Amino acid sequence: MTLEEARKLAEKLREEINYHNYRYYVLNDPVISDEEYDQLMHRLLELEEKFPELVTPDSPTQRVGAPPREGFATVTHSIPMLSLQDARNEEEIREFDARTKRFLNLPPDAIIEYVAEPKFDGLSCEIVYRDGRFTLASTRGDGVVGEDVTPNVRTIRPVPMRFVKKEGVPGYLEVRGEVLMRREDFEKLNQELIKKGEKPFANPRNAAAGSLRQLDPNITASRPLDFVAWGVGLVEGVELETHWETLAMLEELGFKVSTPRRLCQSIDQVIEFYRELEEERDLFPYELDGMVIKVNSLELWERLGTTARSPRWALAAKFKPRQRTTRILDVVYNVGRTGTITPVAVLDPVEVGGVIVSRASLHNFDEVKRLDVRMGDTVLVQRAGDVIPEVVTVIKEKRTGREKPIHPPEECPVCGAQAVKEGAYYKCVNISCPAKLVQAIKHFASRRAMDIEGLGGKTAELLVERGLVKDLSDIYYLEKKDLLGLPGFAEKSAQNLIEAIERSKNPTLARFIYALGIPNVGEYTAQVLARHFGSWEILSRASLPELLEIKGIGPETARSVVSFFQEARNRQTVERMFQAGLKPKEEVQPKESPLAGKVVVFTGALSSMTRDEAKALVEELGGTVSNSVSRKTDLVVVGENPGSKYQRAQQLGIKTLKEEEFLKLTGRA
Ligand code: IVH
Repeated sequence: MTLEEARKLAEKLREEINYHNYRYYVLNDPVISDEEYDQLMHRLLELEEKFPELVTPDSPTQRVGAPPREGFATVTHSIPMLSLQDARNEEEIREFDARTKRFLNLPPDAIIEYVAEPKFDGLSCEIVYRDGRFTLASTRGDGVVGEDVTPNVRTIRPVPMRFVKKEGVPGYLEVRGEVLMRREDFEKLNQELIKKGEKPFANPRNAAAGSLRQLDPNITASRPLDFVAWGVGLVEGVELETHWETLAMLEELGFKVSTPRRLCQSIDQVIEFYRELEEERDLFPYELDGMVIKVNSLELWERLGTTARSPRWALAAKFKPRQRTTRILDVVYNVGRTGTITPVAVLDPVEVGGVIVSRASLHNFDEVKRLDVRMGDTVLVQRAGDVIPEVVTVIKEKRTGREKPIHPPEECPVCGAQAVKEGAYYKCVNISCPAKLVQAIKHFASRRAMDIEGLGGKTAELLVERGLVKDLSDIYYLEKKDLLGLPGFAEKSAQNLIEAIERSKNPTLARFIYALGIPNVGEYTAQVLARHFGSWEILSRASLPELLEIKGIGPETARSVVSFFQEARNRQTVERMFQAGLKPKEEVQPKESPLAGKVVVFTGALSSMTRDEAKALVEELGGTVSNSVSRKTDLVVVGENPGSKYQRAQQLGIKTLKEEEFLKLTGRA
């Protein structure tokens, strides 16, 4: 490479790094992974090493972080807050040990004691204590000058305002550590932000940074931040000899301190701990991005000194990165056990956390809309532990204009039946779709549906596995001899199941409708449909406009019902069930009843009957019971100590009845 070529490349790299610095530190919204950022930085460092004349004072290699943001006062650190040299694997950890010994003129087999501790993925912060009291807090900033975040840090609960120990403590102490957010709290915060229509954070570290660097400390106070101390700056009033002692002192003063930490007598022990930590990283409530290895003796710290960027006595041994960017090549649909069809991004394969990832979940169509993700997009993907990889953000800067929108599925990719919308999801409308058959049987047989005792999930799985049930209606064609061949079935249990199936042949219409698992049709809706149409025959011919007119049936439900009956396989399944002798009871509408077609809500305790009895009574008289009061409610029955439903009924002007009045109305008193 000629000097001129190198100059051009260096300039290009600086431009890019500057932009990503800005995205990361100022906007808290990075568009590349740390790994990729490190690679850019490495390339620039290498280039500048080769051609030192190219180093410019404003090169990103000449500083270690972000400049203070406007709006914050600045704090000059009494000892610069440097960064750490990186190692990516065990070989590079050994290289650090060898380098350290060479620098100290020690033989390769000399023993250096190291402290190994987690590298927390947060935001570094320095807190000053005078006479044991919290006085000043600052971010690292560019390493020399940071932002004054004193009022913000004061709101972080785990940060002590006073030392818990009073004797033998430093009169002046700069505590250094990491401001963090627990993964769990990060998820919660993101849910809240999404609900409010705000942009969620890409990861816990950005969430911690975004929460701390708020000009309004009230916002910081409302965010669940944590602080873990990993070292000190300037110390006055106590003599410390080792880093291990420093951490022990911090713990005694009342700080949360890097844990688990280990005092190692050799680099082999360090590596052993490194393996353990990486293996267990998911067990920690915080995101860890590696392990920090520090020479234990502070005297050796003096001798080793620092380079412009980092101390020679410490090393960050990184874990495999879990976020990478890649492209979405295609989108396919996956059908879950319940018939939920989820969009899955097919990726240009990329290694994430040591595993090649070629697919990532897009969860559902609300998520697709929220991310505004399109086919061909460059995206940030992440995986944690055994969790399915997911798309975190779209890198819109990389769009070419040729990206294509992702459409909801029109049909089930497994069986080809119609896909209908249920909330944020799409579901297959075929009740016997192979993807969901096991769950369909389990639901069909469940207590509140057809109530077939002895037909649970395990048996359902066996029946499907052995090919005995290929269609839901096959349940009614099972014979004792089929069951006797199955593990766990003996003469008696087989007989019992056959009898239970037989007994289920005369359900109420509502139970039967519910049992079929039509998308959007739960128990309540099934009851409404049964009441309204009275017979299966009439329901099966219902048109969309007809369904839409029914109180309590929304457009998604109405469409589901129509799609269900449009699917020939569903009609055949039900027909086969009927041929086997299944016959739902027709519901005759007790038109004369005072509760016919009425929606009733109960609140408070009833003295003359249980809730279940009251519900049965209402249903017997042609009404339905709902759990919440809405404009569709006709009547609220008020017992002892009524809840908020009573007030709501009054607000909406809905008729309320005392228990005695209800009993009179229903002819029970
Ligand atoms: S010691 C001279 N120990 O990593 C710097 N740093 O890449 C000494 N970090 O700025 C740093 N956990 O924000 C140290 N246990 C730990 C750490 C840790 C996280 C962060 C810290 C530092 C950055 C360096």
